[in-house]
Amino acid sequence: MGDELVRKLGRREFRPSARAGEGRMQIDYSGHVKNLLDLRSVVAVHAVERFDVPRPRALLGHQYLTRLLAAVGWVIRLHPSGTFRTMRVSAAGQGSRTMRRLRSEIAAALDLDDGTDAAHLSLSVRPSTSGAGWDALIRLTPMALSARAWRVCNRASALNATVAHSMVALAGHRAGARLVNLCCGSGTLMIERATARPSAEIVGIDIDPEALSCAERNLDAAHARNRTHLVLGDARRAPLPTASFDAAVADLPFGMASNPNGDLGSLYEETLREAARLVSPRGAFAVVTTRRRLLEDALARNAERWARRAEFPLRVSFRRGYITPSVYLLHRV
Ligand SMILES: C[S@@+](CC[C@H](N)C(=O)[O-])C[C@H]1O[C@@H](n2cnc3c(N)ncnc32)[C@H](O)[C@@H]1O
Repeated sequence: MGDELVRKLGRREFRPSARAGEGRMQIDYSGHVKNLLDLRSVVAVHAVERFDVPRPRALLGHQYLTRLLAAVGWVIRLHPSGTFRTMRVSAAGQGSRTMRRLRSEIAAALDLDDGTDAAHLSLSVRPSTSGAGWDALIRLTPMALSARAWRVCNRASALNATVAHSMVALAGHRAGARLVNLCCGSGTLMIERATARPSAEIVGIDIDPEALSCAERNLDAAHARNRTHLVLGDARRAPLPTASFDAAVADLPFGMASNPNGDLGSLYEETLREAARLVSPRGAFAVVTTRRRLLEDALARNAERWARRAEFPLRVSFRRGYITPSVYLLHRV
């Protein structure tokens, strides 16, 4: 994420400010706001409006409410008219009378429908990171940034695109590097790689023809078909030459949305072995899974092939809640 912020925002334009909690970064930013609207390595960007009040109830007072509405109005005007039609406020005690009133004041003033699940305007109210008062966090975009425009075909098991973006960066973004995506599903990792460095050769393999036709549609929408290839096959016995890639990436089945009944233990172990065959000596393998135990066991059985360089625990929204996968970065022994 840091690399992308420096590249797209400019080193002088932003500096980290308060500690914002696990997986979050709070910055002071003096550059053009449009630069924040297409970041790929972050899930969402919020404007933070700080209120020096003891309780959220004070936000209903004329002075604070006017300031809050002005901040929300500013976010709405960043986008073409009519983009924001629905809204959601999240806060501790969001069912309380104060929060209900706050929601209805905002909805009425800005002509928004209140309470929809996939709301365009997303506002959270929480204790300020500065230690006193309350912060209103207003998401700058009508959808999370991880919702990509190229995703014309979705699958329940599709990987969060922000996570995919970070994984391909971990595996190595070198121009011209060849990448294999084992268990590629709808093509998220392939597309994030192809759009980061269009010159790379990228091969995706999946055992499910429906997953591949979904990947095909997404690759088309991302204009990423020219240097990508899809292969129908088993990731444990890929019909691809030995040492033909510089790096591999995989979002292995967790057993929730895909492969609910399969033998995941042997799939993990054999996929790690096959990835070592496909990747050249010194190559990298970035793998994501919620099934840490299975991956640890598979790694132990592939100790002569792969060494763990790093593990990144994540919290990612899934269906109506969260899952906590880890990304593992492995290097060839
Ligand atoms: C978690 S999903 C991958 C999702 C993908 N990253 C995306 O964004 O859509 C796991 C995928 O592994 C595939 N799969 C399961 N067993 C496989 C095997 N033996 N060989 C290749 N693919 C397999 C499934 O068909 C599924 O598409």
